[in-house]
Order: sequence, then C-alpha cells, then structure tokens
Amino acid sequence: MDFQKTYQEKVLYINEGLNSIIRQRESHPTVLRAMEYSLQAGGKRLRPVLFLSAYEFACIDNCSIQELDQVRPMACALEMIHTYSLIHDDLPAMDNDDYRRGKPTNHKVFGEAIAILAGDGLLNLAYEVMLENVPLETEKLNRYIKAMLIISRSAGVSGMIGGQTADMENQGSNGNFSELEYIHTHKTEALITASLKSGVIAKREDTELLNAVAKYGKALGMAFQITDDILDLTGDLQELGKMPGSDKKMSKLTYPARYGLEMSKKMSRQYIEQAVSCLEPYGKKGEFLKLLALSILDRSR
Ligand code: IPE
Ligand code: IPE
Ligand code: MG
Ligand code: MG
Ligand code: MG
Repeated sequence: MDFQKTYQEKVLYINEGLNSIIRQRESHPTVLRAMEYSLQAGGKRLRPVLFLSAYEFACIDNCSIQELDQVRPMACALEMIHTYSLIHDDLPAMDNDDYRRGKPTNHKVFGEAIAILAGDGLLNLAYEVMLENVPLETEKLNRYIKAMLIISRSAGVSGMIGGQTADMENQGSNGNFSELEYIHTHKTEALITASLKSGVIAKREDTELLNAVAKYGKALGMAFQITDDILDLTGDLQELGKMPGSDKKMSKLTYPARYGLEMSKKMSRQYIEQAVSCLEPYGKKGEFLKLLALSILDRSR
C-alpha cells in the first residue's frame, strides 16, 4: 500500500466535504470568513482520516463510495470540532500563539472577539451538520446517535475541555505523572480515540472491534501529543506551521519538560509499538492504521 497516496486521497475527500458544508451555509459573512480561514488553512486532517479509516476497518469487504458519502459529514464534524479547539487554544488568554497551519492565527487576523465567535461557530456547526445528516433507518440511526454521543463526550468537559483546563492550570507547575497523563489523555487522546470509535460504530456495533480501536487510539493519541511536545522543541516554523518554543515560553507541563527529550522520544515510541500491536490480529485490514501509527514517529508537522 502507498500510505502517503492513500492518506492524501482521504484528505482530498474530506476537504471536498468541508468546502461544500461551508459553501452552503447562510451566515454573517464576517464570522463565516473567519471560520473558513482556519478550516481551509490546511492541517493534517488526522481526526477525520481516522474516522474514515476506522469505518473502512469495520467493513467486511470494501465499502462503497455511497456509503462513505453518507458518513462524510461526521468526519467533517470532527475536523470542525478540532479546528475550533485550535482557534481557542491560540487565543491570548490561552497559549497566545501567532501562527497556526502556516498562517497568522485567527485572532491575529480577525481580532479576539471574532476568533472566539468563529470557534463557537465551528463547534456548533459540527453538531448542526451531524444532525442534518442523521440516517432514517432505525438501526443505523441508533448507531449514529451512539457515535455522536462518543464524539460530544470526548470534546466536552469529561474530555478535551477538561484536558485544556488541566493544561492551563498546570502552567508553571512541575506536575506529577498523573497530572501530565491527565492533560494528554484528555486534551488530545480523547478526540482521537472518539474519531476511531465513532468510525467503527457508524458502520457496525462490534465490541471486539471497538475495543481494538479504542486501545489503538489511546496509545496513538498519547504518542501524538508527546510528539507535538517534542516538535515544540525540535521543529521549525516553516515545516510545523506554528511557532516552536511556545510551550517553554508559557511554562507548559509537557513530556520533554518533565522527562527530557530522549526519554520522551522513547515513551512515544513505546506507545506507537503498543498501537501497532493492537492491530496485529487483523492483518491486511489493519494495514493503513498501522502505517499511520508508524508515521507519527517521524512526523515533522
Ligand atoms: C494540534 O493538532 C493540536 C494537538 C492536539 C496536538 P494537529 O497536529 O492535528 O493540528 P493540525 O490539524 O494538523 O493543524
Ligand atoms: C492543544 O495542545 C490541544 C488542543 C485541544 C487544541 P497544544 O496547545 O500543545 O497544541 P498546539 O501545539 O498549540 O497545536
Ligand atoms: Mg494548548
Ligand atoms: Mg497551543
Ligand atoms: Mg503543542
């Protein structure tokens, strides 16, 4: 399998979905422009790619494009939730960052008030879009609602918002292991795992598969955020699209700050090994998710 090509195909498919969602929206032009600015600035589209890959993972044979078209709005919703979290994360009251996805941050261009509203707009739009696309058939509808519940919980106070709160509260602290783990599992891993679980459940309710992707997601999500912390030290603005050194400036409690660079790299590698091992029983079916996990180890953006 050509991993890069397959990944890129999924990104294009998601971008097409996002474009049509934004194009069809009737809204105040200022807030819509601000939402579009951050959404279309690029980004790896990791969460919707995970959703679609998990959906395909749960298909017995290859799934049809018609089937994928039906669940694409949910994949796009995950990206809108993620993008809102980035706009708010960059605000002066939070991480106070000037660059994101290779461009000035939302509030740098539109001002803080509009950036807050653009984030709110994207978050709300995510749920509008999911609700507009509920399937009518009862069995499918039940699974779709379960998927929405997984997504909303992971993004909420028991998930990402809780993690972001802990991240803010621990600025300047030495933090112990459990605090650091709480931050990473909640602010980042939760939505990553939810993307995978919702992808599976959108296709079928299968406890074994759900457990497998949940375990994979937990390890992948941790490795992803540890790598993000590492890149804050080793990355460069051009490649990363955001300003390195931001965590240090804000005295964030990160893995490298707590354990040093080499130990953090080792821990991230161990998490990836764990993620890969969850897919072993699935052979060829799990190949894309396996390659995706491995790609996290040497990502530079
Ligand atoms: C950045 O997420 C914030 C984290 C949770 C680490 P990504 O690294 O997925 O950012 P984009 O979407 O590619 O810009
Ligand atoms: C943010 O973590 C996670 C979110 C939920 C947005 P970071 O603050 O480390 O993300 P970056 O480095 O700004 O992308
Ligand atoms: Mg942050
Ligand atoms: Mg940040
Ligand atoms: Mg970071």
